Amino acid sequence: MSLTTTDLQNVFPLLSRGKVRDIYEIDPQTLLFVATDRISAYDVIMQNGINDKGKILTKLSEFWFNFLPIENHLIKKDIFKKFPQLEQFRDQLQDRALLVRKLKLIPLEVIVRGYITGSAWKEYKKSKTVHTIPIEEDLVESQEFPHAIFTPSTKAEQGEHDENISPKQAEEIVGKELCDKLSKTAIELYEKAKNYAKTKGIIIADTKFEFGLDDQNNLILVDEVLTPDSSRFWNAKNYELGKSQDSYDKQFLRDWLTNNDLAGKENVSMTEEIVNKSREKYIEAYEQLTGKKWE
Ligand SMILES: Nc1ncnc2c1ncn2[C@@H]1O[C@H](COP(=O)(O)OP(=O)(O)OP(=O)(O)O)[C@@H](O)[C@H]1O
Ligand SMILES: [Mg+2]
Repeated sequence: MSLTTTDLQNVFPLLSRGKVRDIYEIDPQTLLFVATDRISAYDVIMQNGINDKGKILTKLSEFWFNFLPIENHLIKKDIFKKFPQLEQFRDQLQDRALLVRKLKLIPLEVIVRGYITGSAWKEYKKSKTVHTIPIEEDLVESQEFPHAIFTPSTKAEQGEHDENISPKQAEEIVGKELCDKLSKTAIELYEKAKNYAKTKGIIIADTKFEFGLDDQNNLILVDEVLTPDSSRFWNAKNYELGKSQDSYDKQFLRDWLTNNDLAGKENVSMTEEIVNKSREKYIEAYEQLTGKKWE
C-alpha cells in the first residue's frame, strides 16, 4: 500500500502540500515535514504512489544530513513522544515525518552540476555556455566538468516552473555576499557527497540544495538532500560518455509514459509493474549509498 496523502484532521494545520511532501505547522518555529509516496514525472503527479518511497527519501536525507558538515533543519526528537496527539496518525507518519525548524527560506534553488546533461547540455550545444557561464572546454554529453559549477534557478510558486538563471541574476535576488557563500558552500557539499557516492558505484551528476537562515543569519541546510528526487543519480557501471544516461529512479516511469503517449497528462495511474520496478530502484539507491539493507 502506498500513502499518497496525509490527513491529520486539523490536529495541526496543513501549511502546504508540495509535489511530494505534506507540511504541517506545529508552532511558529516548528514544522512537521511528511514525505508521502507521491511521484511526479514531466511535472505531473501520478494518481497512485510508489510504496515506501517517502520513507526511503526520508531515511536517505537523514543519512546525508548526518554526513554533511553543515548545520541542518532537523530537530532530532521522537515525534510521538513529543506530541502524543500524533499517536493516532502513526500509520501515516511513522518513518516519514520529521520535525524541522521553520526557517526563512532563501528564494533560490541552489543547484550544483558536476556533469553536463539535461538543460545544461542543451544550452552548451547552442552557445557554449551553461546558465550563461562561458565554458571554455570542449565537452561531450554527460562529461564531468573540470570543476563543479553553481547553476541556480528561481524557486517558483506552486504549479509554476523554476527558471534557470545566471549566478549574476542570483546575486541580484539575494545579494552578492550571500550568493558567494551559497555557491561556495553548495559546491563543497556536492564535492564531498559526489566523492563518497562514487566509492559506492553511484555518480551524482547534479543536485539541488535549499538553504534557510536562522535568527543569527547562519546558513542552514533544509528540505531534502541528495535523494533521487533532488539529484541526478547515474549507475557508474553503465556510465558512457557522449550520450544521455538513464536516470537511476524515474527511467522506467518516464519511458512507460512516453511509450504510452501519457507524458504530461493528468490523472495517470501507473501499472503494478512500473510501481514495483521504480520502488526497487529507490531501494537500490538507498542501499548502495548507505550500505544498509532496506528493512
Ligand atoms: N526548514 C524549512 N522551513 C520552511 N520550508 C521548508 C523547509 N524545508 C523545506 N521547505 C519547503 O518545503 C517544501 C517541500 O515540499 P516538496 O518537496 O513536496 O515541494 P516541491 O515539490 O519540491 O515544491 P512545490 O512546493 O513547488 O511543489 C519546499 O517548498 C521547500 O522549500
Ligand atoms: Mg521538493
